[in-house]
Formats: sequence, C-alpha cells, structure tokens
Amino acid sequence: MTALVTPLKVPVASNRKADFPGLVGNWAYLDTAATAQKPQVVIDAIAKAYGPDYATVHRGVYERSATMTMRFEEAREKVARFIGAASANEIVFVRGATEGINLVANSWGNRLQAGDRVLLSALEHHSNIVPWQLLRDRTGIEIDVAPLTGDGRIDEAALEALLTPRTKLVSIAHVSNVLGGVVDLARIARAAHGVGALLLADGCQAAPHMSIDVQALDADFYVFSGHKLYGPTGIGVLWARAEILESMPPWQGGGAMIETVSFEKTTYAPPPQRFEAGTPHITGVMGLSAAIDYVEAIGLGAIAAHEAHLVTAAREALGRINSVRLFGPADSAGILSFAIEGVHPHDIGTILDESGVAIRAGHHCAQPLMALLGVPATARASFGIYNDLDDVARLAAGVERVTRIFGTAGTDR
Ligand SMILES: Cc1ncc(COP(=O)(O)O)c(C=O)c1O
Repeated sequence: MTALVTPLKVPVASNRKADFPGLVGNWAYLDTAATAQKPQVVIDAIAKAYGPDYATVHRGVYERSATMTMRFEEAREKVARFIGAASANEIVFVRGATEGINLVANSWGNRLQAGDRVLLSALEHHSNIVPWQLLRDRTGIEIDVAPLTGDGRIDEAALEALLTPRTKLVSIAHVSNVLGGVVDLARIARAAHGVGALLLADGCQAAPHMSIDVQALDADFYVFSGHKLYGPTGIGVLWARAEILESMPPWQGGGAMIETVSFEKTTYAPPPQRFEAGTPHITGVMGLSAAIDYVEAIGLGAIAAHEAHLVTAAREALGRINSVRLFGPADSAGILSFAIEGVHPHDIGTILDESGVAIRAGHHCAQPLMALLGVPATARASFGIYNDLDDVARLAAGVERVTRIFGTAGTDR
C-alpha cells in the first residue's frame, strides 16, 4: 500500500490545536464549514464581557455602559477594516449570514416588482435561496439560476449570459459550502453592474479562509457568520454600501432603531442602528472582535495557504482509494466533499466518528446542488486553522476502513 499522505510543509504551526479547548482528546475535527471551534482567547473575551465588563450599550449613563458602548463600536470599526469597508456605518450586526440575507430580502427586496429578476446559482445554501422565494411569493419576482462548470464552480460565463435589464440582484456564495469553489466576485460585480443589478455575496465560507476586500471586489452587499470565523454563534455581519443602506427601510421595529416615536409618527435612526432593533448581542460582538484579532494575528494569507495544503493532501489521499468519488474543484477553499460507492454518507460519518474523526454527512443545506450532483447527500471534510496532516491521515485511514467494512475496493488506483 502506498503512503496515504504525501508529506507537505504546512505553514501554520500545527500546535494551534492547543489554543482550542474544544479539541481535547486527539479529536480530528473536520467540520469547520459547519461551525469552527473556539480559541481560548474568544472564550475568555466572552466570559469577560459577561463578567467584569458587562453592561448594556448605547443607553446607560454610567461609566461601565459607556465603556462597553465604546468597545462595541470599536468592534464595528474592526469588522469594517477586516472586510475593507469604507466606514463602520456600513456594518450591521445581525444574528448570522441567514439573518443578513433575510434583512436584505425584506428591506431592499421590497422595492422589487413583478417581473424583476434575482439571479442565484445552483450551488447556493438554502439561506440564499429561500429568502428570495419568500420575496417571490410577496412580489412576483422571477428567480434565475446560474449553472455550474463540470468541476463544480459557478459557471461565470453562463451566469453573465443570464443577466437581463430586469435583473436587479445577483446573489451568490463567494465560496461554496459543499464544493469549496471560489467565484471571481469582481468579474460578477462588473457584469451585474453592467445591467444595473447589485451583487450580494454570501461570504460565510470565504471570510474564515481568505482576506476580503469588499471595495476591491466591488460588491454591494456582503454577509458572514461569526461562528464560522472562530467566533460565537448568534452574531454575524451584513455589510452594504452606505448609500444603499441609507436607501433601505427598517425591517424590524423596536428600541435603538428610532429617532423619535409618537403614536402619530415615528422617525428612524440612520444606518446601521436603523437595522439593529432591540438590545444587540453585546457579548457576541466582543467574541467576534476577539476572533478577528486571533485570525489576523495568524494572517489570512497564511490561513488560506495552510488550508490549501491540507485540502490538496486530502484529495490526493482519498483520490487513491478506489470507489471514492471526489466532488468540487482541486483548488477548493478548505472544503472537500466525497462519496463512497454503495455507502451512505451517514455510515461514512458514523464509522469515522468511531476513530475520532468528525466530518459532516448530509445535504449541507444545499438540496438543489445534491440533485444536480445526483446524490442524496455527500460526506464533507472541511479544514480550519487547527487541522494538520495527522488529521488528513486519520481521515484517509478512516475512509479506507469504511471501504473494508463495506467490501468496496482498496487503495491501488
Ligand atoms: C455558504 C453558506 N451560507 C450561509 C450559511 C448560513 O449561515 P448561518 O447558519 O450561520 O446563518 C452557511 C452555513 O452553513 C453557509 O455555509
């Protein structure tokens, strides 16, 4: 039998695992695309925010609240810098990418009319499909779907060919959560703007893996979730260009989003407060801020290179096992979907779990993509900054074991 993993130099030190208390017990955690483990510095930041620093923001007249408000708004500035936004006022804190897209559909989207078109792609997560279907039910818009290339990327030329003067928005994943392909957003932005449409990029799987510059990409909306970026759950970001946010009506009403309220008439605060009704997820923002510090200290370039090495090693190792089918492009951003002939992905996941390897098995909230691939589900290994070649070797050994248990072919491809 040939070696399952070709030795490669991995740029991010593998002892990163020590930063993550969730990775105790020699666990090969390969489900970072679902949610990332948290470094101790993030957990500490949340504990501090709930402990000695705790107070509300934007309302208190006492010092603790003023300090917390300052940190909260500093975090907004940090997020703006992190994604290359022009101003902190373009950063809206939301629950996650799902809420960010729903916000756009329910606020900006309400200006669309019957016959207007929204262009998606065949690989979108349900959170970038269903909000537009709900909008279609309300307004009568049409939804177009760009096809994929043979290796599972958004077919950029085919997408461009679907643009029409009635297309008002292109809404696509920057990185696919199933196949890991990276789309050329700047190209899509140019094409979308050429017909007067805006571009929303779902950056859920991109923000943890690569450096983002929303201005250089020329996007109009960008969303991501904190929990995939080594931060807490329940916090995420919607970025939109200032002039677009200013033109959008509120989508939820309540405290913090108003200027004045009377029973006759209410006026609204400017963005981003207009879109942040109610007490915000203060501690979540503190955790997200610590997570950004953590990934920036390592460097997004180093993270991207590290994960590229791991995914290459994993493709190579699994590709040698007969009966394993690999999905997606070779240069995927840290994500590898695969299937084993005659074995349900849930069985793959269960057997791998027995040897301490955690992968995801299922439709990954992308049922239209599963239909296109002709499978009900895939097994998915996804890599983060704490993974190393040992995890890849354990994945490959586990998959070999699955093929032995199910009596499918061995490793002599
Ligand atoms: C590409 C993509 N978009 C959107 C989402 C939704 O993210 P959340 O559930 O954090 O809102 C996910 C989560 O898996 C995703 O991978």
